Amino acid sequence: MTVGIIGMGSMGNMLLEKFYASGKFGEGELLAANRSPEKLEQCRIAVPCSNTELASRADIVFVCVRPVDLKSVLSEIAPCLKEDSLLVSLNGSITFDMIRNITDHKTAKVIPSVTAEINRSQTIVCYNGKVTEQDKESLRSLLGIIGEVIELPENEVGMGSELVSCMPGFIASIFDVVCTSAEKHTDIPREQIVKMVLNTMSATGDLMLRNDMTFDEVVTRVATKGGITEEGTKVIYEMFPEAADEMFDKTLEKRKQTAKKAAEAFG
Ligand SMILES: NC(=O)c1ccc[n+]([C@@H]2O[C@H](COP(=O)([O-])OP(=O)(O)OC[C@H]3O[C@@H](n4cnc5c(N)ncnc54)[C@H](OP(=O)(O)O)[C@@H]3O)[C@@H](O)[C@H]2O)c1
Repeated sequence: MTVGIIGMGSMGNMLLEKFYASGKFGEGELLAANRSPEKLEQCRIAVPCSNTELASRADIVFVCVRPVDLKSVLSEIAPCLKEDSLLVSLNGSITFDMIRNITDHKTAKVIPSVTAEINRSQTIVCYNGKVTEQDKESLRSLLGIIGEVIELPENEVGMGSELVSCMPGFIASIFDVVCTSAEKHTDIPREQIVKMVLNTMSATGDLMLRNDMTFDEVVTRVATKGGITEEGTKVIYEMFPEAADEMFDKTLEKRKQTAKKAAEAFG
């Protein structure tokens, strides 16, 4: 299978490096294209191509450009795509309906998470009606290189992205606040506090996933009635829901505005 990536920016590069490192691709099976030629000159792990050459050779074509550039790239490559290839857009805001105005090709949308860097992405995927089960299997297997794949209907991609793509930022900011507060109550250096909290956070997640535990079960196990932990968990359950509701209200509203801007940029 030949995989092509158009747009050697943050996402395109990450995908290319991961696909290459998987060892699943032979010579000539990874293709790359980019607007500014300098990025391709430095690329040693894929065959440098023009957008149209890539589209005419690849079985799966990842388009990793910003929304403002997406329309022109799709218009340019649409006539060259192989009849049976799969087109993949990385932009959550550009809908299949908008893409259909340019090309009626088999199309998927893919939203990876930053945790792809350690092959633990939970990548959101959705498909237009033309994508076959075999295409889905090929894409799942490819994206399996960077972690798990979660298939959602197009109307749930926004909230799905909040839960896996934005969540590393939410988690980091929550625990940043917790560590800053802890610092005020101890002489343990911040660096050590952060390590303790991060390892506990990561181990708690693994424990819950491995043993299929609920949040409630963990809280009950640790926060015995009338004990010290319970004092803390009571505060969190009393005060944090308002902040969490506000967070999703704000991010989902911003997502709507971003989708509107992306649609305008797409034209
Ligand atoms: N970054 C993230 O965390 C993330 C996460 C999920 C989804 N996404 C989505 O992924 C897409 C790409 O984002 P990004 O952060 O990777 O963007 P980026 O770093 O700005 O990279 C975009 C790349 O596209 C290239 N490009 C632009 N127009 C082109 C054209 N006509 N032909 C060929 N290449 C062209 C640019 O080339 P130049 O070198 O000339 O600028 C640049 O290398 C966006 O839709 C974004 O919403 C991003």
